[in-house]
Amino acid sequence: MSEFASKVVVITGASSGIGAATAKELSKQGALLSLTGRNKKRLAQVADECKKLGAKDVLQVVGDVSKQEDMERIIKETADKFGEIHVLVNNAGLGLVAPIATFTLDQFDRCFNVNVRAVLYLTKLALPYLEKTKGNIVNISSIGSTTYATKGFSIYCATKAACDHITKASALELAKSGIRVNAVNPAVVKTNIIVNIGFSEEQSKEMFADNAGKHPLNERNIKVEEVVDAILFLASDKATMITGSCLKVDGGRELVGQ
Ligand SMILES: NC(=O)c1ccc[n+]([C@@H]2O[C@H](COP(=O)([O-])OP(=O)(O)OC[C@H]3O[C@@H](n4cnc5c(N)ncnc54)[C@H](OP(=O)(O)O)[C@@H]3O)[C@@H](O)[C@H]2O)c1
Repeated sequence: MSEFASKVVVITGASSGIGAATAKELSKQGALLSLTGRNKKRLAQVADECKKLGAKDVLQVVGDVSKQEDMERIIKETADKFGEIHVLVNNAGLGLVAPIATFTLDQFDRCFNVNVRAVLYLTKLALPYLEKTKGNIVNISSIGSTTYATKGFSIYCATKAACDHITKASALELAKSGIRVNAVNPAVVKTNIIVNIGFSEEQSKEMFADNAGKHPLNERNIKVEEVVDAILFLASDKATMITGSCLKVDGGRELVGQ
């Protein structure tokens, strides 16, 4: 039996991409899931698939993690339903192209609110429950936190650098409570984030063709499942002495510095 069977896992941004794929894998392992996202229809679709795949139970909380009351509701509804929390996956995130000459403070606030503020506030809200279960947190960062400075991505990359530092600082602060905090830092992966950033189908095709060659390992793109494997490893008892780590899933891209 999987160690995640009957464990309560909160996943933000579960209506799409990496969050949805993580929810589906945990479903096969019989977890109890609390799934959140703003898009009610897509969240319900993912929840249905999770039930079919074997999730023991699935709670859907439609909410916007940039709003304080929604973050509080996500944790409260999870605790009301399941009574405990073992793992928090802070995955919800948005990317944007925001050149220095034209970016707006609204873009800055939106990106930091979701990618940074929500990570820290949800950590605070989940803390009393994770203390009881000696649970853990996995934050989804990016290799953009350290590896490359991409034109137009100064805000996004800064949010992910902040995410790495929140991961390390909270790992240190929460270690005395037996709570582990780690991050997974993927290279570019094909999900809706690419569409939402504004890349056309054609641009996205070109980018992924170009990106494949930037990964020294096998010169191919990263699969969503490979990111999920890293998340589940860090969340599992195989990582009992790992905390404050930012685990890159980048096929060696950082080694060549691009
Ligand atoms: N794909 C990549 O290349 C890549 C690389 C490195 C890191 N990452 C990180 O991986 C994480 C997941 O991204 P993804 O690639 O899976 O993208 P995605 O498919 O666009 O998924 C993003 C998820 O975040 C949710 N979300 C966004 N804003 C939200 C808000 N204000 N409140 C609640 N939920 C919100 C979205 O749900 P709703 O739209 O339903 O709200 C969606 O479920 C992000 O943190 C991203 O920065 C991605």
